Amino acid sequence: MNTVASLSLMPHLLIKPSFTCFSRKGVGRYGGIKVYAVLREDGAEFAKNNNLEALFHVDDPGPRVPIKKGKFLDVNEALEVVRFDIQYCDWRARQDLLTIMVLHNKVVEVLNPLAREFKSIGTLRKELDELQEELEKAHNQVHLSEARVSSALDKLAHMETLVNDRLLPDGASSTSTAESTSVVPSTSSTTHVRTKKQPRRSLNVSGPVKPYNPSLRNFWYPVAFSSDLKDDTMVPIDCFEEQWVIFRGKDGRPGCVQNTCAHRACPLHLGSVNEGRIQCPYHGWEYSTDGKCEKMPSTKMLNVRIQSLPCFEQEGMVWIWPGDDPPKATIPSLLPPSGFTVHAEIVMELPVEHGLLLDNLLDLAHAPFTHTSTFAKGWSVPSLVKFLTPASGLQGYWDPYPIDMEFRPPCMVLSTIGISKPGKLEGKSTQQCSTHLHQLHVCLPSSRNKTRLLYRMSLDFAPWLKHIPFMHLLWSHFAEKVLNEDLRLVLGQQERMINGANVWNWPVSYDKLGIRYRLWRDAVERGSDRLPFSNQAESGS
Ligand code: FES
Ligand SMILES: [Fe+2]
Repeated sequence: MNTVASLSLMPHLLIKPSFTCFSRKGVGRYGGIKVYAVLREDGAEFAKNNNLEALFHVDDPGPRVPIKKGKFLDVNEALEVVRFDIQYCDWRARQDLLTIMVLHNKVVEVLNPLAREFKSIGTLRKELDELQEELEKAHNQVHLSEARVSSALDKLAHMETLVNDRLLPDGASSTSTAESTSVVPSTSSTTHVRTKKQPRRSLNVSGPVKPYNPSLRNFWYPVAFSSDLKDDTMVPIDCFEEQWVIFRGKDGRPGCVQNTCAHRACPLHLGSVNEGRIQCPYHGWEYSTDGKCEKMPSTKMLNVRIQSLPCFEQEGMVWIWPGDDPPKATIPSLLPPSGFTVHAEIVMELPVEHGLLLDNLLDLAHAPFTHTSTFAKGWSVPSLVKFLTPASGLQGYWDPYPIDMEFRPPCMVLSTIGISKPGKLEGKSTQQCSTHLHQLHVCLPSSRNKTRLLYRMSLDFAPWLKHIPFMHLLWSHFAEKVLNEDLRLVLGQQERMINGANVWNWPVSYDKLGIRYRLWRDAVERGSDRLPFSNQAESGS
């Protein structure tokens, strides 16, 4: 009997991958199935009429997903099927281990001179030989079970990769002509995995950085920490290749004006702030926070104004709206959850395009290879790293690390790291850890090869650390060290990207969040009415 099921992906996508399942009798508690990836709109019909090779086998699809003839499953149900299969394999492995333990006890019993009844040496030897044989079989069974669990995990990872691949826009195929074989390692002799050649989809992020699309400007952008903006200080910032300067007006509120004097284009931030006005260092013209020139020494006063941007202060940060659209009414909150104390606020100007930096910050899988002198020193390399997130989300958590992460449009990364022991992060979820570190990274697009990074670090323990003299210097030193480990790599990527290499040529399962950021950004820059992951994406603006 053949049972057919097909899985389709989210309806709003152009490509709907389908996975067709046929039942296989007599395997597993609920009957085994074979899973096929059918990357067509008419997946089920196609599957019925064609002789397909299985992508992989699922021994036990579980009771939650009824598989019957003609039944179509969505992609989440398909993942559920594979997850249940992993639980089943795990259960089988436990049974095998139990068998070994029972056999070991029997051996101990046979050999124990106090417990055993009198038996001849010959009988004892025979019993031991039999037990030995059973033990050997049980050991083999355990190895088989290990391989099955490992294979089931591979299935899950592969299925996620397939889903991720389908999430990539069809038209964004790599210019590279490379084709890949399906990356499904098979560790079980009972699993026949089809390695079918198929064109691999990737994003194309290559070549010189294009001018910023105006639609990317229509967001609130945090540009400075309030603590860095005293009554008489000026903070020059570049944003979308334009130069601005922030200072406080007479009322103490921040303002953002162009950092170029109307008279003869002198940089204003080299001047000073007098009574809430920024004074040009060249001939002393003074501007208020709305850009109006209010003083023009040694000449007749003219009606002159420089450009200014909407500028607000909220929760310890100064925000600007660089877009042409009217500013959105709300500015998002970037504060850590209650119970955290801010310990460090650091600003760095970095010579890389902000998208490349975001790609880097949204990736944790690189840590045990890149951060070997800092926070990931001594970390082992997990056999599988995944970012788990709802299909519609820009936030989730890293498996096997106790780290939650979120991309917050337009350019923020929030992460909460569970700390159990220094240097030992693996194996616990964020919630299970008793202490946490919260990080905010803002990657302001200064120019096409420059990012202004705002970093805020908070802890939910040891608030007294904040009062230790020079502690902030230590945090800065550590943050810079971590960042430098990344920077040399990202700079290398940038150089190659400008020369034509695609920095997203071969995305894999742990690249999910980075890919979603790129999809979101592509949609913004294309001027899409509806942004992907829009249940969250709009929260940043
Ligand atoms: S250039 Fe600024 S006052 Fe002359
Ligand atoms: Fe890093």
